[in-house]
Amino acid sequence: MLQLLLFSFCYFNSFHTATSYLFSDCLANSKIPKNQLKNIIHTQCSTNYTTVLDDYIRNGRFNTSTTHKPALIITPFQESEVQEIVSCAKKVNLHLKIRSGGHDYEGLSYTSKTTFAILDMFNLRSIDLNIKEETAWVQAGATLGELYHKIWENSKVHAFPAGVCLTLGVGGHISGGGYGTMLRKYGTSVDNVVDAKIVDANGRIMDRECMGEDLFWAIRGGGGGSFGIVLSYKINLVPVPKNVTVFKVRRTLEQNATDIVYSWQNIADKFEKELFVRVFLQAVNSTTTPGKMTARASFIAMYLGDSDKLVSIMDEKFPELGLKKEDCNEMSWIKSTLFWADFPENTPEEAMLNRKSRSSLAFKMKSDYVKTPISKGNLGTIFDKMIESKIVWMMWNPYGGRMSEIPETETAFPHRAGNIYKIQYLTYWNETGPASDKANIDIVRKFHDFMTPFVSKNPRQAFLNYRDIDIGSTDNVGPNAYGEARVYGEKYFNGNFDRLVQVKTKVDPTNFFRNEQSIPVLKN
Ligand SMILES: Cc1cc2nc3c(=O)[nH]c(=O)nc-3n(C[C@H](O)[C@H](O)[C@H](O)COP(=O)(O)OP(=O)(O)OC[C@H]3O[C@@H](n4cnc5c(N)ncnc54)[C@H](O)[C@@H]3O)c2cc1C
Ligand SMILES: *[C@@H]1O[C@H](CO)[C@@H](O)[C@H](O)[C@H]1NC(C)=O
Ligand SMILES: *[C@@H]1O[C@H](CO)[C@@H](O)[C@H](O)[C@H]1NC(C)=O
Ligand SMILES: *[C@@H]1O[C@H](CO)[C@@H](O)[C@H](O)[C@H]1NC(C)=O
Ligand SMILES: *[C@@H]1O[C@H](CO)[C@@H](O)[C@H](O)[C@H]1NC(C)=O
Ligand SMILES: *[C@@H]1O[C@H](CO)[C@@H](O)[C@H](O)[C@H]1NC(C)=O
Ligand SMILES: *[C@@H]1O[C@H](CO)[C@@H](O)[C@H](O)[C@H]1NC(C)=O
Repeated sequence: MLQLLLFSFCYFNSFHTATSYLFSDCLANSKIPKNQLKNIIHTQCSTNYTTVLDDYIRNGRFNTSTTHKPALIITPFQESEVQEIVSCAKKVNLHLKIRSGGHDYEGLSYTSKTTFAILDMFNLRSIDLNIKEETAWVQAGATLGELYHKIWENSKVHAFPAGVCLTLGVGGHISGGGYGTMLRKYGTSVDNVVDAKIVDANGRIMDRECMGEDLFWAIRGGGGGSFGIVLSYKINLVPVPKNVTVFKVRRTLEQNATDIVYSWQNIADKFEKELFVRVFLQAVNSTTTPGKMTARASFIAMYLGDSDKLVSIMDEKFPELGLKKEDCNEMSWIKSTLFWADFPENTPEEAMLNRKSRSSLAFKMKSDYVKTPISKGNLGTIFDKMIESKIVWMMWNPYGGRMSEIPETETAFPHRAGNIYKIQYLTYWNETGPASDKANIDIVRKFHDFMTPFVSKNPRQAFLNYRDIDIGSTDNVGPNAYGEARVYGEKYFNGNFDRLVQVKTKVDPTNFFRNEQSIPVLKN
């Protein structure tokens, strides 16, 4: 009964009492030392509860007083503690949401409509690098910034092909098929994962050999939240030159952006693998016609080579952009990660160790895949519509290269050959609240509807890491759960959905690991 004293009066008063108490009691009787429990379990009455909760909320939309809050936040320091936590949570039927970096676009890692606890991985963030072997074991709570920095401390000619935002958590990012500016050369992050450690629903720690190839396949792109707690991934480092070259060149409609984007569509997925040219599209005030808005395309490039070579490639294959040598910037790979994350020039490398979010804006994102080039006329209409929306931005990310060489079934991440580029729709706003949220979300939903004729069909595909609850969700109970899940499941995973369901049914038949868009269990 001693453990009762750990918790204050308000704890007993709280609305989630029963399950939380049973859970805490179970942990108090586990292998975790009792004096460690107060550092691991944060109730709504703990002084640190709000800070711990807020630290890894990345979307202002879910940072409000009305957002459903967890009964508990559980912050283990040891992998063995994760085992005890899962065993106890399963025993008392406490729903766990798993959080690594907290960037889930719909807040699924830290919100829920029903009683739940967050299992927060931020204390588990060691990175064990082996330069000789060109590998690293990275724990789920590490950020990409910490990973990139660690690689750079040990080698100036190695890198890892993962995301652009440096606060992304390894746990969510890699399990969801995370990618970055080297995907045309090296594929996505999951294409460079060689082993993993996971805690399954029975509280067992399993590596690749022990979990088997099916589960190892699933946690490379199938999303972590359905199968277990990813403790760490073992990754292969990839070679990069001492310097890479980047540029950002902007063209408005008045500067023939429509023609240039049209040409980009025909070459972006066919360039040499070393070259990645992203297009960022937004509505901006016209500089030539005051009071009028125009569309602006920013061409942002990563080239694993020098600027002379880059300029000659662009002259030959994409002269419409009119790239000049002065537009190019040669820098080390590590500096390029700061450039891509939009840090000011000359920001020191240490800045990427900062785990704090740099934005508190609310946002809504959506995604699409494009398989046939959009005509010039339709591009013009799309840009007009974007101007009309004022707030919808688009990021067009080219595929091809290595992406087209890897079969769709190789990992759970399915979007491979046949995709010219992926669209991300981005909409940000300052003022949160039901009315403002709805108004802004409606605008991006309408825009997404408008794009229907130009993008992939049957199913209209989407990228799991750009989580979008509009494309379907499930409450994971009732006879319709499987059918509901199939709707978003085929958009995120194409033909890989069925295999994911089989793996799920085998490794977590009671559906302990679940969220609003998890993989369902097959009904027998
Ligand atoms: C500003 C910004 C920039 C981004 N840039 C990119 C980019 O360049 N490339 C890209 O691919 N994506 C990008 N994303 C999307 C990002 O990859 C996904 O949101 C990713 O899921 C984030 O992982 P996380 O650990 O930070 O998030 P979390 O919210 O912690 O987790 C995301 C999902 O994974 C689950 N999960 C988390 N940790 C674990 C674990 N240890 N075990 C099992 N399941 C787990 C969660 O339950 C949740 O469902 C960006 C997102 C933001 C907000
Ligand atoms: C609460 O936060 C403070 C400041 O970060 C820290 O020193 C302390 O250990 C935390 N307490 C618990 C119980 O986690
Ligand atoms: C736009 O294209 C037209 C016709 O091809 C050309 O004459 C003009 O110089 C271009 N404008 C710019 C800013 O490149
Ligand atoms: C664009 O123009 C509008 C009205 O002309 C103005 O209110 C707004 O501040 C301008 N935006 C920027 C970014 O300059
Ligand atoms: C890399 O680029 C920097 C900045 O332009 C330059 O000072 C340095 O000499 C280059 N290094 C190599 C190896 O080319
Ligand atoms: C969440 O709200 C707190 C308090 O208002 C604020 O300090 C923090 O920056 C916000 N975070 C995000 C991501 O919106
Ligand atoms: C939010 O507010 C800040 C500060 O007022 C402003 O600079 C920014 O442009 C606004 N962003 C959006 C998306 O409205």
